[in-house]
Amino acid sequence: MGKRKPWAGRFKKALHPLVEEFTASIGFDKRLFHQDIRGSIAQAHLLERAGILTKRERARIERALKEIEKEIETGRLSLGTDTEDIHMAIEKRLIEKIGLLGGKLHTGRSRNDQVALDLRLYIKEETSNILRLIHTLKTTLYELARKNIDVIMPGYTHLQRAQAVPLAQHLLAYYEMLKRDSQRLKDCLKRVDSMPLGSGALAGTAFDVDRHYGAELLGFSTVTENSMDAVSDRDFVIEFISHCAVVMMHLSRMCEEIILWATEEFGFMELDDSFSTGSSLMPQKKNPDVAELVRGKTGRVYGNLVAILTVMKALPLTYNRDMQEDKEPLFDTVDTVKGSLSVVSPMLRTMKIKKDALLEATRGGFLTATDVADYLVMKGVPFRESHHIAGSIVAHCIDRGKELTELSLSEWQRFSPLIEEDIKKVITPEGSLERRRAPGAASIREVRRQLKRIERELKKESL
Ligand code: ARG
Repeated sequence: MGKRKPWAGRFKKALHPLVEEFTASIGFDKRLFHQDIRGSIAQAHLLERAGILTKRERARIERALKEIEKEIETGRLSLGTDTEDIHMAIEKRLIEKIGLLGGKLHTGRSRNDQVALDLRLYIKEETSNILRLIHTLKTTLYELARKNIDVIMPGYTHLQRAQAVPLAQHLLAYYEMLKRDSQRLKDCLKRVDSMPLGSGALAGTAFDVDRHYGAELLGFSTVTENSMDAVSDRDFVIEFISHCAVVMMHLSRMCEEIILWATEEFGFMELDDSFSTGSSLMPQKKNPDVAELVRGKTGRVYGNLVAILTVMKALPLTYNRDMQEDKEPLFDTVDTVKGSLSVVSPMLRTMKIKKDALLEATRGGFLTATDVADYLVMKGVPFRESHHIAGSIVAHCIDRGKELTELSLSEWQRFSPLIEEDIKKVITPEGSLERRRAPGAASIREVRRQLKRIERELKKESL
């Protein structure tokens, strides 16, 4: 450290070593080296078009940048602490390799538009990776639902047994959440997809740079519209992390259910040995640590969102060094979401669903009490009254330690003479489901229709 900085012209003293260490971002922004090199190659092309570089000069710079990329990939160029950030490290190496010509590359460019470009390229790439992982998880849920179409279980509200539902309906609820997550991420891409290069430090480049050509070279559909906004905008980072936070919220809800279902108390499923961990003390334990960690890591992503929102709060235009603090929350979010999505799919695929336990759980707990009320409605009783009658029947059963299925016809008729023998079919979980045929409802027929639609959606999703 302590060597001459590219910006040292107006300084009389070298940086204090503490300041060098405190301000350096190379330790984490080295992750952006691919993006930085891609951006620099495009910059060289723009300078060629603007008449700043000859064709040969541009080719030489381009070749050297590609070599530097290889050097970094193979670890031959170590990105130590002797440069401030990845942008300077690459430029420094370029000048080492090709001399003064390397010093032409930064013409009309600032690290402010450079870092904005790198981040946009990075988020575009990682969004496609995340979308692919979400697609896999959606497919896993679809397949599990299809395979278990005949499995019935209690659905819950307030974590109290409420009404019987197909396990498929429960699983496909998560499909819908993840579908919205993909939609949100795709929508966010529209705003990431603007090319900031040419914005300079804040006021735009003074050279005749064809920014649209730059956008084309780098695969952006348009260019940013205001140089001051372009270098100080991190909305796209905030938006991206916030969508990732919602993904994690969904995964943590799913994992919470898996944790519950794997307990002795629920006993609805068993995790595969390869997705469970043991206890160092208690030999009998089989713990759902993977699901717990996904639930726990959700907290990190929420933290990252609050961190970036807080960094950006009240920053005056345009670039401020505070903004260097955008990277670690972003990188951590990407790692956490990708890691979590990757592990949840195979965990679900390998878990053993205890079909009999699920069905058995629908037998008790008066899950068809609503169906009794609905039955009376069909006989002309107003719902508020039928609800009350059904409630009294449940109370009667609780007093006598009986289930609805154990009542005799004369017992039923004591509550309403309108009740007939056909009530017996109404109060089975299968009978209850059968009648729920509104679009999106839980009858097996309706769930099959959902599955067909989902199959089409999954096929159509181009990633
Ligand atoms: N390392 C800096 C960051 O990540 C790059 C931009 C620095 N720009 C500047 N004018 N100091 O934000």
